[in-house]
Amino acid sequence: MTNSTEQDRVLIFDTTLRDGEQSPGATMTHEDKLEIAALLDEMGVDIIEAGFPIASEGDFLAVSEIAKNAKNAVICGLARSAFGDIDRAAEALKHAPRWRIHTFISTSPLHMKYKLQMEPEQVIEAIAASVSHARNLTDDVQWSPEDGTRTEPDFLCRAVETAIKAGATTINIPDTVGYTAPKESARIIAMLKERVPGIDDVVISTHCHNDLGMAVANALAAVEAGARQIECTINGLGERAGNAALEEVVMAMKVRNDILPYRTGIDTTKIMRASRMVSTATGFPVQYNKAVVGKNAFAHESGIHQDGMLKHAGTYEIMRPEDVGLTESNLVMGKHSGRAALRDKLRQLGYEVGDNQLKDIFVRFKELADRKKEVYDDDIIALVGATADGS
Ligand code: KIV
Ligand code: ZN
Repeated sequence: MTNSTEQDRVLIFDTTLRDGEQSPGATMTHEDKLEIAALLDEMGVDIIEAGFPIASEGDFLAVSEIAKNAKNAVICGLARSAFGDIDRAAEALKHAPRWRIHTFISTSPLHMKYKLQMEPEQVIEAIAASVSHARNLTDDVQWSPEDGTRTEPDFLCRAVETAIKAGATTINIPDTVGYTAPKESARIIAMLKERVPGIDDVVISTHCHNDLGMAVANALAAVEAGARQIECTINGLGERAGNAALEEVVMAMKVRNDILPYRTGIDTTKIMRASRMVSTATGFPVQYNKAVVGKNAFAHESGIHQDGMLKHAGTYEIMRPEDVGLTESNLVMGKHSGRAALRDKLRQLGYEVGDNQLKDIFVRFKELADRKKEVYDDDIIALVGATADGS
């Protein structure tokens, strides 16, 4: 990364189809995966992690097919440090115009001792061997120290240096168990930049899980410290509490570009479509109050807020619904709604009513709203009829 325009560019690495699919119950069909990958490519995702080819025949076929159909995005496949994993990933990916092997091994004391049952020196040897094996197959190799944020700092620096010397072009630091906090996330990236020879020649990436609800904050803090790739998923799908949500990191950098002066290549107007597509494919509903893509993210029911919104949308909205692919905000008619919102709704439905009729309709509307959670357009039309004929 050399000139100033490139320095603020953050690559978006989407792992919905790999880490997202690892979420219990989120298995997607082959067709769903192809459709999601095509949309991610169309919306400007830089790298699509399409799967873990050694994991199953289905994963291998999905990665191969996504690779064949790729247009602009780099297609990536995950591999452990075993040569068999790496070869299988290359076999699936080779049809893509641009492809990447992402290989990883655990580096934290806990993972090395209990999960891998390997000595630190053996892990260092495995890093050197796996990365150079991958690098003999492609120029684009990403390496990750699993449980990176709980890795002892000196060992993390040594492991990263080994991967870079062996040919890694992207170094991704996973917060595998969502344990870090923004200051620490930034500190780890700053430490690598300061201490690891060759680090300025590779892209530093951040991969944050959401166990403590800090994945997006941690990813953005890593970017502020020098990371230039964020790994994320649509709707924050992923293991346990999920990964950093693509729509949140992208919109945070767009809406608060004054304090987060970074750019992505994402066409944000496709975000809502992607969110709905992933939700339908997985059967995972999006929580109503989910940032950016939740049903209520652009909905307003309280009379005070609706009145403000009718005067100027900026009063209660920090982004425009059009920017994420919605046509308009939603003024929900319920018991908190006021007269101004009711008059506006009546106009939208084609009714110009006088002050007296509005007063009547409003009284009946409040009675109805007390009984119902949401008052629908048909209910309001019925109220107009009832007040007009005096019933
Ligand atoms: O969370 C994690 O550590 C991962 C790695 C495989 C990158 O998903
Ligand atoms: Zn992960």
